[in-house]
Amino acid sequence: MGLLEIRDLHVAYGKIEALRGIDLDVAEGEIVALLGSNGAGKTTTLRTISGLLRPRSGQVLFAGTEVNRLRAHEIVALGLGHVPEGRRIFSSLTVDENLKLGGFLLRKRPNELTRRAQSLYETFPRLYERRTQLAGTLSGGEQQMLAIARALVLKPKLLILDEPSMGLAPKLVHMIFSIISKIRAEGVSILVVEQNARQALRTADRAYVLESGRIALAGPARELASDRRVRAAYLGGDATAAG
Ligand SMILES: Nc1ncnc2c1ncn2[C@@H]1O[C@H](COP(=O)(O)OP(=O)(O)O)[C@@H](O)[C@H]1O
Ligand SMILES: [Mg+2]
Repeated sequence: MGLLEIRDLHVAYGKIEALRGIDLDVAEGEIVALLGSNGAGKTTTLRTISGLLRPRSGQVLFAGTEVNRLRAHEIVALGLGHVPEGRRIFSSLTVDENLKLGGFLLRKRPNELTRRAQSLYETFPRLYERRTQLAGTLSGGEQQMLAIARALVLKPKLLILDEPSMGLAPKLVHMIFSIISKIRAEGVSILVVEQNARQALRTADRAYVLESGRIALAGPARELASDRRVRAAYLGGDATAAG
């Protein structure tokens, strides 16, 4: 059984059909990339997994539970961490306050919350150095790190990330993906939405390509990286650069 199993999922905004019957799986220990151009339905997929949107039909099974009708915080309690599009950190709160907001389900166990924050500061020493600073003063890369750390406070089984490399310089994009690999090495499965197909296909085990609300291609990341259609549409058509 997969950790995440999506079956024939349809999601609409009024008359706009954003997802038209998608199937997608994430097995335990996998890094799966969800690629596709602007408006393909990537964010809609993640928001539906998180319980922020309701499907019109179809199923989302997470950790063996059908989560379609659960509330977002109940899905978090089952072990889902979501790093939303645009990071959504609170600029006028400190780094430490932002981090601890990720642990709202531990609010009655402050010592445990402090321990988890401590352990994340070991993984992200840069955040520790800046823990008393207002989050709004962090660089883009540091803000993304904070958004990721915040989603890890509750030790999720599955981390879903929406365009974590958006707006970052190439060196930082590389850093974010090495953080993603490190998180997986610690036993967290990953579903990452990306427009940066090249870097995502280097890091992921498998990938899906979403086009206008449908899965157009799926397979091992290495195979997709050498697929003619993927190269033409998402890797700039350059046969030598995808390596
Ligand atoms: N809140 C919304 N209201 C109406 N349409 C939306 C809304 N959010 C997204 N859409 C539409 O749904 C489709 C998929 O959007 P989205 O999931 O954000 O795509 P992606 O993340 O791949 O760029 C697009 O056609 C988009 O215009
Ligand atoms: Mg999006």
